[in-house]
Amino acid sequence: MKTMKIYKAHILYTREKDRFEVLEDGYIAVGDDGRVTAVADSLKALDGGDAEVTDFGDRLLIPAMNDLHVHAPQYRNQGIAMDLELLPWLQNYTFPEEMKYADLGYAERMYRRFVRDLWRFGTMRASVFATIHTESTRLLIQLFREAGMGALVGKVAMNRNCPEGLSESVEEMVLGCEELIESLELRTERCDYNVELSPLNSRLVRPIVTPRFIPSCTPEMLRACGQLAKKYGLPVQSHLSENKGEIALVEELEGTGYGAAYDRYGLFGQTPTVMAHCVWTEGEELELMKRRGVMVAHCPTSNLNIASGMAPIRRFLDEGLRVGLGSDISGGHDLSIFRMMVYAIQVSKMCYQQNHERRFLSLSEAFWLATKSAGSFFGRVGSFEPGYEFDALVIDDSDLNHDNYSLLERLERYVYLGDDRQIVHRFCRGREIAEPKI
Ligand code: GUN
Ligand code: FE
Repeated sequence: MKTMKIYKAHILYTREKDRFEVLEDGYIAVGDDGRVTAVADSLKALDGGDAEVTDFGDRLLIPAMNDLHVHAPQYRNQGIAMDLELLPWLQNYTFPEEMKYADLGYAERMYRRFVRDLWRFGTMRASVFATIHTESTRLLIQLFREAGMGALVGKVAMNRNCPEGLSESVEEMVLGCEELIESLELRTERCDYNVELSPLNSRLVRPIVTPRFIPSCTPEMLRACGQLAKKYGLPVQSHLSENKGEIALVEELEGTGYGAAYDRYGLFGQTPTVMAHCVWTEGEELELMKRRGVMVAHCPTSNLNIASGMAPIRRFLDEGLRVGLGSDISGGHDLSIFRMMVYAIQVSKMCYQQNHERRFLSLSEAFWLATKSAGSFFGRVGSFEPGYEFDALVIDDSDLNHDNYSLLERLERYVYLGDDRQIVHRFCRGREIAEPKI
C-alpha cells in the first residue's frame, strides 16, 4: 500500500478503553485506500517515503465521532416536546412529525440541515433511522453520499399502533427496501480493496434493516425484516428495553421477553445488530446479547429527557457487552457525541452511587465508547491503529488552552467545553470532508 499523506499534530486515541495513546508532535501516515498505514512519534520511525507532510502544528488530532443511534426525521423536534414518557411521546410528538416525510420537499429541507449538523459536530459515521417513506429515505442516502460521510440508513418498518400515514404493508416494506438496495447498486458493487468485508460493506453509505420496535411491528413484519437481513446480509437496528411501559406492552403482545422476541424473528445478532437504550436489560436478555455480539447504543440524554432511566453501562462493560454512544435525536436533544461522553460519565456516576457499582466511567472509557467501540459497527473505524480507516478531527483548542494544560487536560476540556467552533478539519476514510450545503 502506497502512503499518500502524512499528518503531524498532537495525536490522541484509545486503542483500549482504560487508557489514551498520546503522541506529542506525532505523525500518522494514510494510504491511498484511506487507511492508516503507520503512526509514530517521529518522521523517521514512520518510514513514509517521500509522501507529503501536512503539519497541523499545536492542534489535536483525534478519531472522528460515531453516532450509533439517531432519528433524522425528528430533527425539527430537537430540543422540544420532552414532557412525556416514551409511548405517549411517540403518539403525540414523534409520529405526527415523521408523517411529514411523505413530502420530499420538506424531507430535503430537514435532511440537508441534519447531515450538515452531523458534520459540524464531527460525526463522520452514523446509524440512522429515516421513516417508512422510500423516496425521502433514498434522498437521505444521497445526501450522505454527496457529503462523503459514512452512514447506515434505515427505511423504518412499522405497521401497528401508529397513525395510518405511518403504516405500510409488509409487501410495501419489502419492495421499498429492495428498491433501495437495487438503486444503490449494492448487488453488483465490486469490492476494490477491503478483503475482510463483503461487497455490501465496502460502501460508506449502506442500508440497515430497521424495524422501529416490537410494538410498531406485527409478527409478519418482524419476520419479513429478519428475512431481508438474512437475504442481503444486512445489519439490523432497533430499540430494546427502553421504558417500563413499553416492556410491559411487548410482553403483552409477544408473550415473551423483549430480546427473545427479536431473536425469534432473526433480528438479534443473526447479522450485525445494534439495539438502542437497553436501560432495563438484564438476565437472559443480557446473556443473549453477549453471546450474539448484539451492540448497545447508549443514549444518555434521551434516557434523561423522556424519563426512561439509567442504563447500567459499567455493568455492561464489565460483562463484556459491546457498547457505543447515540444522540437519539429527538428523545435526545444534543447532536454532539462529545457531549454524549459527558452525559454517559455523569449518568454512570449516578448509577455508581445508587447501585453501589465498583467505579464510574472514566474519560478514556467514554472516549473509547464513542470512537473505537462504536466504530466497530461500521468496519475498522474509530482508532488510529494500522489498517483502520482514517476518520479524524483536527481540533484547534487555542481558545480553551490558556494556561499550559497537558495534552490529556486539553482533550478533556475540549470534550466538556468545546463545540463545533474548534473543529477545523474533518476526515472520513482518508478524505477531507467539506461542509455539506444546506
Ligand atoms: N422507540 C420506538 N421509536 C422510538 C423513537 O423514535 N425514539 C425513541 N427514543 N424510542 C423509540
Ligand atoms: Fe431512538
